[in-house]
Amino acid sequence: MVRRHRHGPAGLHLDDPVRRDPARRVAVRPTTTHAQGGRPDLPEGVGRVNFDWDQLVDAATKAMRNAYAPYSKFPVGAAGRTTDGRFVTGCNVENAAYGVALCAECGMISQLVLSGGGRLTHFVAVNGEGEVLMPCGRCRQLLWEHGGPELEVLTKAGVKRMDEVLPDAFGADDLA
Ligand code: THU
Repeated sequence: MVRRHRHGPAGLHLDDPVRRDPARRVAVRPTTTHAQGGRPDLPEGVGRVNFDWDQLVDAATKAMRNAYAPYSKFPVGAAGRTTDGRFVTGCNVENAAYGVALCAECGMISQLVLSGGGRLTHFVAVNGEGEVLMPCGRCRQLLWEHGGPELEVLTKAGVKRMDEVLPDAFGADDLA
């Protein structure tokens, strides 16, 4: 009889579906509190502090759990709110041809357009720990297209406008 090693170095069962699918091997901690918007330069009660960021972080974290990230083992979730109050989400989807990977924001933007379009008002991305993650450069361009300069982005440094996250952006106006 072949003796199977049932535990890997990390103590996980080798035949555990979570181990077989690294994308799902994520430990999600409770989210930090973002209910106040986390904007350090604004006094409490002033400006963009009324949005329930925790709800959006939770939506992004839920999306992240569906990530297909067997190559980087870096699952990402993205969530946005639209002007009409919809929530749209996405997760990263990788490929054996590494460069073909789709960022979580790509899926989220596809869902935005597919579900009726509109503008994004709030956005957050999270890593596999459910922690706030800055969108990559390419995805900042996607966010600019569908949210514009006023889109509010939850960052590690608090809530920022999209024109702070992507200053001097190229956009549709430049094509005119
Ligand atoms: N990733 C995203 O999904 N969004 C970002 O904004 C940053 C990077 C993904 C792409 C790839 O699957 C993994 O994170 C590691 O780069």
